[in-house]
Amino acid sequence: MSVLPPSGAIVILTGAGISKESGLDTFRDKDGIWSKVRLEDVATPEGFRRDPAKVHGFYNARRRHLVEDGIVPNAAHAALARLEREWRGEVLIVTQNIDDLHERAGSANLIHMHGELLKIRCQRCAQPFAWVDDLDQERRCPDCGRGGTLRPHVVWFGEMPLEMERIGDALAECSLFVSIGTSGHVYPAAGFVQMVRGQGRAHTVELNLEPSESATMFHESRLGRASELVPAFVEELLCR
Ligand code: APR
Repeated sequence: MSVLPPSGAIVILTGAGISKESGLDTFRDKDGIWSKVRLEDVATPEGFRRDPAKVHGFYNARRRHLVEDGIVPNAAHAALARLEREWRGEVLIVTQNIDDLHERAGSANLIHMHGELLKIRCQRCAQPFAWVDDLDQERRCPDCGRGGTLRPHVVWFGEMPLEMERIGDALAECSLFVSIGTSGHVYPAAGFVQMVRGQGRAHTVELNLEPSESATMFHESRLGRASELVPAFVEELLCR
């Protein structure tokens, strides 16, 4: 990887595949989340308006699974936290995941572009706050006191992902862009590799169990499980 300056900025996009070996389902694998429930019903503003109890039930089950079933970061999350500690330049993780496994592995320079499962927000106050319990329509907002206004702090289809300006700036400046465990089905994340290729300088790498929809856009594609590929890739970067 000769093109990468020793302290060049690195941007890492992660998707559900990096958390699969920690015991969290992906979305589009054959037994994935969208094979069990319609995303229109539980991951859109229309679905929430139509049946808020169904949406709360969907996220309550995922929140409980993350918090109560011994889900822990795997070697891929740990390797990215090591890279942030030991790399001389900036390492930014942009995750599509709403779990907290990157944080629990020790990553700090992190953007949750699709929100966070362990946060909720009031649709009146808009301020997100930490939440690990079940949520329902009766629960009142602790700030404004209104009922029926609390929702998961998760970006639904048709809503704008978070911190897109900061992400765009980082993609424009990076020397290395790595995509890990994402199928490349959902924009804007799936378009990040084109944005990086457009700036004409960075090296781009995909680490995935199978080629994503955007695989041909990457300079380099390595196939395998994240818990094996990512630690090996980080070791290679740090020991060049
Ligand atoms: N290691 C590496 N990659 C894996 C592993 C693994 N152990 N297991 C699965 N994968 C890969 C799959 O091959 C697939 O390409 O991870 C990818 C998961 O793809 P999706 O299920 O589509 O998840 P993701 O790309 O994160 O979805 C993006 O879609 O539904 C929305 O908001 C949701 O953030 C999500 C977005």
